[in-house]
Amino acid sequence: MDLMQDITALAKRRGFVYPGSEIYGGFGGFWDYGPLGVELKNNIKREWWKSMVYERDDVVGADAAIIMNPRVWEASGHIEAFTDPLVECKSCHHRFRADKIGGVCPDCGGEFTEPKKFNLLTEVYVGTTEEGKNKAYLRGEITQGVFVNFKNVVDSTRVKIPFGIAQIGKAFRNEITAGNFTFRSREFEQMELEYFIKPGKVEAKKVFEFWKEARLNWYVSLGMNKENLRFRRHEEDERAHYAADAVDIEYKAPFGWSEFEGVHNRTDFDLKNHHLKYKDEEAGEEYTPWVIETSGGIDRTALFFLIDAYRQDKERVILKLHPKLAPYKVAVFPLLANKPDLLQKAKEIYQILRTKLYVAWDDRGNIGKRYFAQDEIGTPWCVTIDFQTLEDDTVTIRDRDTTKQERVKADKLEEYFENRLK
Ligand code: GAP
Repeated sequence: MDLMQDITALAKRRGFVYPGSEIYGGFGGFWDYGPLGVELKNNIKREWWKSMVYERDDVVGADAAIIMNPRVWEASGHIEAFTDPLVECKSCHHRFRADKIGGVCPDCGGEFTEPKKFNLLTEVYVGTTEEGKNKAYLRGEITQGVFVNFKNVVDSTRVKIPFGIAQIGKAFRNEITAGNFTFRSREFEQMELEYFIKPGKVEAKKVFEFWKEARLNWYVSLGMNKENLRFRRHEEDERAHYAADAVDIEYKAPFGWSEFEGVHNRTDFDLKNHHLKYKDEEAGEEYTPWVIETSGGIDRTALFFLIDAYRQDKERVILKLHPKLAPYKVAVFPLLANKPDLLQKAKEIYQILRTKLYVAWDDRGNIGKRYFAQDEIGTPWCVTIDFQTLEDDTVTIRDRDTTKQERVKADKLEEYFENRLK
């Protein structure tokens, strides 16, 4: 089995990611996150929000509606230019992205039509009566919700240029070919910063370089192997319609180097199209700010953290996820489930720890199997309550990565994990 098959199988078996609508045969390009997957995604989002909003004085958050007035997408250029080149096989009529496929149809060897532009926006119909329903779009990028609220944020807060607005949310693209597990889906989640600056190439370059480095370092700070990361600058002919400069952060995936975050210089493209300006009262000037954007995909990030953390030796799978990302931080076990004293003490410790951390409980099978089950889902520490606990109130803590065990006083456990998670 190759690595992608292993990851997909693990994701399904342990409740990270399931195929969308599986009991009805699935639905191409849509995925559902299970109990552990939602924890991993929430942890990624929480860490991102902390570093982008809480730890900065110059960034505030927002959460705009997914469906907006369709005029937003006209102004933003998406109705005209948010397209991929599509070819169709003249024999079997299967459709492909022209820039990702060779000269003949891989399914039947047939000839392709000439490429045509295929718009990626997903249409929806909104309204209460059949006759009165209006066509709208699910957002193709979460970004425009920030731009259309630029004036609202300036007027309702104390932000001053330079400042940023951060947002996390779902986006939808009618991708011609979805694939590589969650990598290219039709519904996905983005985490974006729109950072507004004074117009000008010099300032833009400085801010662009800052965010490019900051974003790559953020992945490394959460345990991603630096050697699996690189920057790739876009050629002029591959940049999105709004970007004057674009650099991708790419991960060395089993299916090749793949983009999972983009840093873009959007200049004044968007605010100008929405007729929005900024008034600098102190300097007595008015201008259209430029925007440096960092745009990451949470699904791709979760997938690459899983791939990066995945280790397999003869007898066990270990997910070496950073403790801040691991779904459970700690698992608590009574050494033997049929000893009431051990069970009661273990439950007490479990109840105390779960007020601070997301904690797993397991009293099935033998201790070795329980360790393996936690290794496979990335739980960094397992706490075992044994007979010695009943005598001296110490427990063993077993470390996922080193498998080393140490004895710690039960009443020091909260402090111990707080320090380890710092
Ligand atoms: N606002 C800019 C923007 O949307 P993008 O490069 O088109 O830029 C940003 O998308 C990120 O969104 C990508 O780096 C990727 O992580 C994620 N993304 C885009 N299309 C995706 C898809 N079909 N499936 C999963 N993630 C996707």
